[in-house]
Amino acid sequence: MFAEALTRLPQRPDPTTVEEYIERQTRLTNQFRQDDVFILASPPHAVHSNDVEYPYRTSSDLIYLTGWTEPESVFVMRYVGEAWVSTLFVQPKDTLKEIWEGRRPGVEGATSEFAVGEAYNNDELEDQLSKWLTDARRVFHRGGVHAGLDRLVESAVRRRDRARQHFGTGPVAVEDPSGILAELRLRKSSSEIEQMVFSSKVASIAHELAMRHSRSGITEYQLQSVIEGFFSYAGASGWSYPSIVGCGENATILHYTTNQDVCGDDEVILIDAGAEFRGYASDITRSWPISGKFTDAQREIYQIVLDAQIAAIEACQVGNLYTAPHDAARIVLAEGLIRLGVISQSVEEALDMEHGDLKKWYMHNTSHWIGLDVHDAGVYKPGGTPRVLEPGMCLTVEPGLYFGAWRPDVDCPERYANIGIRIEDDVLITADGPVVLTADCPKTIEDIERIVGHDLE
Ligand code: GLY
Ligand code: MN
Ligand code: MN
Repeated sequence: MFAEALTRLPQRPDPTTVEEYIERQTRLTNQFRQDDVFILASPPHAVHSNDVEYPYRTSSDLIYLTGWTEPESVFVMRYVGEAWVSTLFVQPKDTLKEIWEGRRPGVEGATSEFAVGEAYNNDELEDQLSKWLTDARRVFHRGGVHAGLDRLVESAVRRRDRARQHFGTGPVAVEDPSGILAELRLRKSSSEIEQMVFSSKVASIAHELAMRHSRSGITEYQLQSVIEGFFSYAGASGWSYPSIVGCGENATILHYTTNQDVCGDDEVILIDAGAEFRGYASDITRSWPISGKFTDAQREIYQIVLDAQIAAIEACQVGNLYTAPHDAARIVLAEGLIRLGVISQSVEEALDMEHGDLKKWYMHNTSHWIGLDVHDAGVYKPGGTPRVLEPGMCLTVEPGLYFGAWRPDVDCPERYANIGIRIEDDVLITADGPVVLTADCPKTIEDIERIVGHDLE
């Protein structure tokens, strides 16, 4: 089954080049003064239990600037002589450790294959960095990631020695560089878009395979295994966030990840699952009837959400505010629910954030940035003003309607009890209009009814 599906995947894109990483580093340092030092640490391992760790995933900022994914590393940029120099502190080569844990690129591997000017073993971090900080004025450093580094930076700022007294040198400010990096990451390069297209295509096929496997009596975790199994089979590193696989009333819980129930014939299943490829996320939600045939009630709700999603995608135009898709989706959802008699307010009243009834059934936002993080870096309202969409920005479009009959806070209409529908695609903003990166994933009622329960032809 997976082998056949794999034939529909395009070739893997080329990895991002060393030249492009250097260009990203240059765009970063262009914003610094020559007496600034920039430091970026890889996050620590996360413990699963006792001596077992979660698979290691480094920081998206580090991937963005270097492509380096090894743990226990620190990346530094400083100005020396006439140019910015990039340095990576890495785990030392260690045969015994490598026998147990895997090969390490070491200093050699770092400088020969990655966009770094020089590399040191990480046991030299303190000696080297404290020297470099002596002459720095501002240190760009995000606290709370690496306790040792936090201490080192703090002590450099506090140091009161002769050099400081004589020459007035030494860091006077520590700034978090996250905002600067977020601004760079917000507009994707063509290489980043290629990685995202591949990630999106893997996830699209995975969702279609889950549709084909759906039948009464299948469990949520079995459908999860089809999706995540294909992610791995296709060469993605795994999921970009824990998969949400909920049928029946579970589909009305926005971030349900228990995934343990049996799917009934009359239920809708909602699957929100995305792959990660070379660090880049995809994020797709599809909802379908387990039986392969929408009931009239399910069809009514599905069509409204689909219409809302299409209207929202259409609003993803250069020059529109990032809130335009949300506004477009909400209008279509409100009109639809008024038509069905679920809401007995005017459209304007229904949309009101305080007293409107739409938020009873649609309580989340329509979009978020997507890239190296599924909820990607980038301020939505810089200085309080909503961001204007520009070419290269990527965002999700994910309206939904959720009729949780279990909820004590609302009177759920009997006809729609426990129907939860969300439809989510990933959209690239271009000068020629929105490009849906996840367009291969079926979403019309006709396509879904043709595919659900039917193995690959
Ligand atoms: N999967 C989380 C989200 O859609 O935002
Ligand atoms: Mn999303
Ligand atoms: Mn999602």
